[in-house]
Amino acid sequence: MEKKNIDWANLGFGYVKTDYRYVSNYADGKWDEGVITEDDKVVLNECAGVLQYAQTVFEGLKAYTTEKGQIVTFRPDLNASRMNDSAARLEMPTLPEGRFVDAVTKTVKANAAWVPPYGSGATLYVRPYMFGSNPVIGVKPADEYQFRVLTTPVGPYFKGGVKPLTICVSDFDRAAPHGTGHIKAGLNYAMSLHAIVTAHHNGFDENMYLDSGTRTKVEETGGANFLFVTKDGKVVTPKSGSILPSITRRSLIYVAKEYLGLETEEREITLEEVKDFAECGLCGTAAVISPVGKIVDHGKEICFPSGMTEMGEITRKLYDTLTGIQMGRIEAPEGWIHVIE
Ligand code: PLP
Ligand code: COI
Repeated sequence: MEKKNIDWANLGFGYVKTDYRYVSNYADGKWDEGVITEDDKVVLNECAGVLQYAQTVFEGLKAYTTEKGQIVTFRPDLNASRMNDSAARLEMPTLPEGRFVDAVTKTVKANAAWVPPYGSGATLYVRPYMFGSNPVIGVKPADEYQFRVLTTPVGPYFKGGVKPLTICVSDFDRAAPHGTGHIKAGLNYAMSLHAIVTAHHNGFDENMYLDSGTRTKVEETGGANFLFVTKDGKVVTPKSGSILPSITRRSLIYVAKEYLGLETEEREITLEEVKDFAECGLCGTAAVISPVGKIVDHGKEICFPSGMTEMGEITRKLYDTLTGIQMGRIEAPEGWIHVIE
């Protein structure tokens, strides 16, 4: 199979239309068989649940070409179960995990020519999503849904690749206690748009959201979890019921413990103690691990000793090990790598 003629090394994180996508519809209490199609258009009734009341959830994962030339995805079973958690919270139907993984597999396989080659620095981003598709005018869940999987080749999420980022402490809240912060619902991202545009306008790369109950504890950014390293080399991540349970973060904690022999801790982290950490990074499918050089809290700068030019030493080891596992250079834990072809 011939790869598309793309300047893989200079791809940003954007949408590029690929050849195929997957579509399955839910009606009368059941999912249809699902198909791969070339049609990238979605035609909806003007009153569809997703348009009126934002009843939509999504996932994000990547397909990689390994050192040996296989196409693989990373822990898609966890995306499947997280999408079902998201769907259940928004009163949407769940999709059997096997169906989700099969849809991802078929879509990536159909778009194999779009999976960036090994060593190109790019990957194929896979976006499964589900939305309420029939007319709804009173506030209630839809009865019909569509599940789709689209793919797009991507480069780094943050411009400049792995250059350390500057983050600002946001005055806006991302999620309420007992709200929807722990699920991947489109509504969480809609309400973060003003905050991210404001952050960019003020010269920052991203926002650090605090817990909205007390505004003293670190939550996450708009699209990634935080990861900190203490001066004595312990990996610490925020524990909160209102952040997304990042698959990357959970994998990195395992890598830190089992591959790098580091101590790890998941606990509440106050904004006050952030200045005492040696390294900071943002972790997620899109972000991978993006190092943070500086956090600005209303003019007060917290500069990490790892600096503004390089990844911190432990962040680098975590990054190299995780991407090594994803690209097949390092043996993966059982079940982490799903081979497409
Ligand atoms: N937090 C938010 C708000 C996200 O959108 C994402 C991206 O999926 C993450 C964290 C990272 O999660 P994962 O590592 O599963 O991609
Ligand atoms: C991902 O990392 O997959 C996400 O969904 C984050 C998004 C902000 C691009």
